[in-house]
Amino acid sequence: MPTDTLPNPEKSPERSSGELIRLEQVTKRFGDNTVLDHLDFSVDAGKHVTLIGPSGSGKTTILRLLMTLLKPDEGTITVDGQKLFPATEKERREVRKQIGMVFQQFNLFPNMSVLRNITEAPVTVLGLSKDEAVERAKGLLDMVGLADKCDARPSQLSGGQQQRVAIARALAMRPKVLLLDEVTSALDPELVAGVLDLLRDIARSTDITMLCVTHEMNFARDISDQVLMFDSGRVIESGAPEKIFSEPEHDRTREFLSAVL
Ligand SMILES: Nc1ncnc2c1ncn2[C@@H]1O[C@H](COP(=O)(O)OP(=O)(O)O)[C@@H](O)[C@H]1O
Ligand SMILES: [Mg+2]
Repeated sequence: MPTDTLPNPEKSPERSSGELIRLEQVTKRFGDNTVLDHLDFSVDAGKHVTLIGPSGSGKTTILRLLMTLLKPDEGTITVDGQKLFPATEKERREVRKQIGMVFQQFNLFPNMSVLRNITEAPVTVLGLSKDEAVERAKGLLDMVGLADKCDARPSQLSGGQQQRVAIARALAMRPKVLLLDEVTSALDPELVAGVLDLLRDIARSTDITMLCVTHEMNFARDISDQVLMFDSGRVIESGAPEKIFSEPEHDRTREFLSAVL
């Protein structure tokens, strides 16, 4: 993989080694449904943390808060020491540049070419020249195995290819944090392994901090430094993958794992 297209530990000595993401007492309600109730957790720089737990437990809500697609009702969210909430819109935009997200449903811009999907935000948000953005995008397309698809429209690609483009698009912003929300759940079964292998590669060869929601437990076991088991908007158990998957402490975790494994 051409690592010069990605953040690299040697090239980013300013990267702090402590906490990169911190949620403190975060509460999120939808109407009278309290989805997150005074949630605390943090993710250290460079770590790969996986959120597991039943549907509706608030996993996506956490990623959407970090992506600033939602606002918390209470609490603070900090990324690399800078406030994401509460903060002014201007401060939030700056912090937000450090975060990339890949969605279950790809969410590519349907009316843009593959190349333009990847160059758009680096040009408009980061202010890269078009040439720089194209060079970066081509490097990433090469890495995800789609160098020949620059001019294709998303609708001309398979789901697995679209998700590779979405991953390249997120990486083109050189984020410190990559959020992955069930990125293989919408794929045909034969396309899942290829996308997971790509993510394993990225986890291994970059220093990007990953916060990942997945039902792919083997993948979670492979890449995670830490697994957090969610239930009803609370972390009920956390630890190394070996511990959570082999010796879970909570009945709820055992039940959940026996349902998905
Ligand atoms: N935009 C929304 N409006 C109302 N309720 C929502 C919205 N988004 C999520 N919810 C509710 O919040 C809860 C948690 O959802 P979510 O974070 O998507 O869970 P998960 O990703 O763990 O399946 C669910 O009860 C869901 O119905
Ligand atoms: Mg979800």
